[in-house]
Amino acid sequence: MGTTCYTCFLSLLLLLLSPFALSERCNPQDKKVLLQIKKDLNNPYLLASWNPDTDCCDWYCVTCDPKTHRINSLVMLSSVPETNLSGQIPPSVGPVPDFLAQLSNLQLIDLSFNNLSGPIPSSLSQLPNLVSLRLDRNRLTGPIPDSFGSFKKPGPSIILSHNQLSGPIPASLGQLDPQRIDLSRNKLEGDGSVLFGANKTTQMVDVSRNMLAFNLSKVEFPRSLISSDLNHNEIYGSIPVGLTAVDFLQGFNVSYNRLCGEIPQGGKLQSFDVYSYFHNKCLCGSPPPNCK
Ligand SMILES: *[C@@H]1O[C@H](CO)[C@@H](O)[C@H](O)[C@H]1NC(C)=O
Ligand SMILES: *[C@@H]1O[C@H](CO)[C@@H](O)[C@H](O)[C@H]1NC(C)=O
Ligand SMILES: *[C@@H]1O[C@H](CO)[C@@H](O)[C@H](O)[C@H]1NC(C)=O
Ligand SMILES: *[C@@H]1O[C@H](CO)[C@@H](O)[C@H](O)[C@H]1NC(C)=O
Ligand SMILES: *[C@@H]1O[C@H](CO)[C@@H](O)[C@H](O)[C@H]1NC(C)=O
Repeated sequence: MGTTCYTCFLSLLLLLLSPFALSERCNPQDKKVLLQIKKDLNNPYLLASWNPDTDCCDWYCVTCDPKTHRINSLVMLSSVPETNLSGQIPPSVGPVPDFLAQLSNLQLIDLSFNNLSGPIPSSLSQLPNLVSLRLDRNRLTGPIPDSFGSFKKPGPSIILSHNQLSGPIPASLGQLDPQRIDLSRNKLEGDGSVLFGANKTTQMVDVSRNMLAFNLSKVEFPRSLISSDLNHNEIYGSIPVGLTAVDFLQGFNVSYNRLCGEIPQGGKLQSFDVYSYFHNKCLCGSPPPNCK
């Protein structure tokens, strides 16, 4: 009898306790970091649901891994009219929060369309599980951090387009093999050839509308390439014959550069129209005007 009652009491106690234990799935360290990020961003309305008294796995803009309950994605889209989240990060808000690097299980960061300014924190390369980094369509300045070459291989897809990034593309990026890399519409200079390489499995490279200047003749394109946009740069040399071996190339644009010589015959190179090749120094052959 006494034992039964004791059991009853214990069950009741467990019943009372369990909802609390279950409701707080969130990792306390992750919660602490998220609250710091919210503070760094000046408590934007977008993050109103990030209330310290509630489970961070239920907060807007983040998701938790179903098994470990660690934060594995952070997606903050605020100024896009199509999204349902209303309100936006105030214009006064400055840089991409450095604290992000402490959410060690993050697989996805999407802070695109946020009018964020300042430099890209180099600490992001410490995120070992990152699969996708999107910081496009902000007002970010400064260089692409050199540390990005030390992302755990193969490295995340990196989308940094529509910013005001300047300086060279770090040579260290040559060590990565990202599925997609989009650095278009920035103010990057110098060599872009490190993004290519015969042994890579990269599918998309977009460096259009920068100030890159390098010799295209020497570039070895990955066989895996599906699209590459190089338009509006200062790229010189000629189109390498090796590109005819890229069997699945669907998009290729080298217009508005300083290329010369004959476009190699073969592969997919004749499937692109004249607008993919126009405005170069002396590029010729099919489809642009014949040589000589
Ligand atoms: C989000 O917006 C779309 C299009 O306006 C609408 O169809 C949908 O119901 C909205 N979803 C929510 C959760 O409000
Ligand atoms: C972006 O920031 C600039 C400078 O602070 C501001 O003038 C502009 O209105 C902001 N744009 C949006 C869409 O918030
Ligand atoms: C590419 O891979 C081949 C075979 O694994 C190797 O021999 C070659 O050195 C590699 N080339 C580069 C540039 O890493
Ligand atoms: C580009 O590289 C090729 C192959 O190494 C070389 O023949 C050519 O002279 C170079 N072009 C320029 C403009 O440096
Ligand atoms: C290539 O880029 C140029 C310059 O932006 C553009 O005018 C042209 O339409 C593009 N070609 C294709 C096939 O998209």
